[in-house]
Amino acid sequence: MSATPATSVDRKSKILEELMRIMQDLSGMDESQIDVHRTFLELGFDSLFLAQANGAFKKAFKVRITTRQLMEKMPTLAALAEHLDRELPPEAFKVEEPVVQQPTAQVAIQDAGVPAAPMLSNLPLGTQVAVGSGSPLETLIVQQLQLMQQQLAALRGEGVSSAVTAQVAATHAPATSAAVGDATKSQAGRDAVGDTHDKTSPWQPVEKKDDGTLSETQKEHIDKLVQRVLKRTPGSKEMTQANRARLSDPRTVQGFRKQWKEIVYPIVSDRAEGSKIWDVDGNEYIDVVTGYGSNFLGHAPKFVLDAVREQISKTVAIGPQTPLAGQVAELICEMTGMERAAFCNTGSEAVLAAIRCARTVTGRTKLATFAGHYHGIFDEVLVKGMGQGARRKSLPIAPGIPGKKVEDVVVLEYGNPESLDVIRENADELALVLVEPVRSRNPDLRPIEFLHSLRALTEELDIPILFDEMVTGFRTHPGGAQHLFGVRADLATYGKVFGGGFPIG
Ligand SMILES: Cc1ncc(COP(=O)(O)O)c(C=O)c1O
Repeated sequence: MSATPATSVDRKSKILEELMRIMQDLSGMDESQIDVHRTFLELGFDSLFLAQANGAFKKAFKVRITTRQLMEKMPTLAALAEHLDRELPPEAFKVEEPVVQQPTAQVAIQDAGVPAAPMLSNLPLGTQVAVGSGSPLETLIVQQLQLMQQQLAALRGEGVSSAVTAQVAATHAPATSAAVGDATKSQAGRDAVGDTHDKTSPWQPVEKKDDGTLSETQKEHIDKLVQRVLKRTPGSKEMTQANRARLSDPRTVQGFRKQWKEIVYPIVSDRAEGSKIWDVDGNEYIDVVTGYGSNFLGHAPKFVLDAVREQISKTVAIGPQTPLAGQVAELICEMTGMERAAFCNTGSEAVLAAIRCARTVTGRTKLATFAGHYHGIFDEVLVKGMGQGARRKSLPIAPGIPGKKVEDVVVLEYGNPESLDVIRENADELALVLVEPVRSRNPDLRPIEFLHSLRALTEELDIPILFDEMVTGFRTHPGGAQHLFGVRADLATYGKVFGGGFPIG
């Protein structure tokens, strides 16, 4: 049988099928939630997700597409399939004609006493193949022939729905679209775990476009504000500009919006004391966040600086142990109720070390963490959850973090009892449950009852639990959130505040 040339419709379906597979795989959504005619943004996929998906598209199709093109030029899966169909060379993603083993079929049919099948590819669609005696074998063969006939018709582009075109049709039906949209919103990760547009995430994409949502009054207000800030802080702006070529600091673009791009620069401060900071233009500010919340004692507390000066005059040798280490460990244990303490330079290192301890002791690998909890800057904890149940997925929250790095992390919803079920299901593999008892990025939620249940469950299942007390430690109470909520953790990490303005973990 001669090969029927693949038509564009067939190839597009195949491409769409592959795109759908990639999107499902990455997002943890199922096909009923991905309407190929809705824009990626409508489906809840942000620019970061699209950048990740784009990597997978490139791998699968070997075609260069920019994330910007995905956002602007081909913002739906259907449009993307269309584009790929145009761009791909004829031999790529070719639809293979199903092999119709005619001689064998004939033998079988003849053996069964049924006349030889006509040339299927020549039959008009819907032609019924004559059935002989109607025995089960005959019926089966006839059904297969009819199925083949349909496949061939699909290959010829005669409008018979392939699996994908059926999906497309189903998802494109108006009623389904509405349902999909809602389900997508809640299940793609917004309500479930990790909002795809999470404004509290440590990673925020730079928004270069004016989204057009501001009223004239708001625009006027912003313009005036920009002028006032520029007039007040020219020194900070000049320094930022002058240093831009050499100094790589993400804060110089943080909060970027076209409307106020002229004032997207950090305030450069040359002095800080107590609750105040002074910038290079001589402006005095009350620092309401004092070191992003870490300076409980204010900036540069005198007794801390005196002690540090004294120590520097003696030694800050790297390598040997200082006699102070044991004393400080003793004090930390006394205050926090923990059994032993180890020191490092940052909170991130402390969490990293705690994870390694837990994996070593349990011999297990997986981690459970909660959406919106922050645990530092290393890859494995910069993660967001997508999907539910068997489709639960973990994705990096920032470009540059390979998906593999977060494969062993299960992201759950904080305070939701269903998260306890997931922990139970994964118990055999879980090395550690990480909790930020009060989320520093969203402190409203303090699910004390949930924390008690979580503790009871992890005790029952013999899974260690870590309280990341980087922010809650010492300042909510000397014993931190553990004391406040009456829950004891197996491991706890501290930092920031007890460094009195110096980095520690
Ligand atoms: C709860 C929590 N854990 C871990 C860290 C990481 O600490 P560091 O910035 O010292 O690495 C932070 C930092 O903000 C934090 O708030």
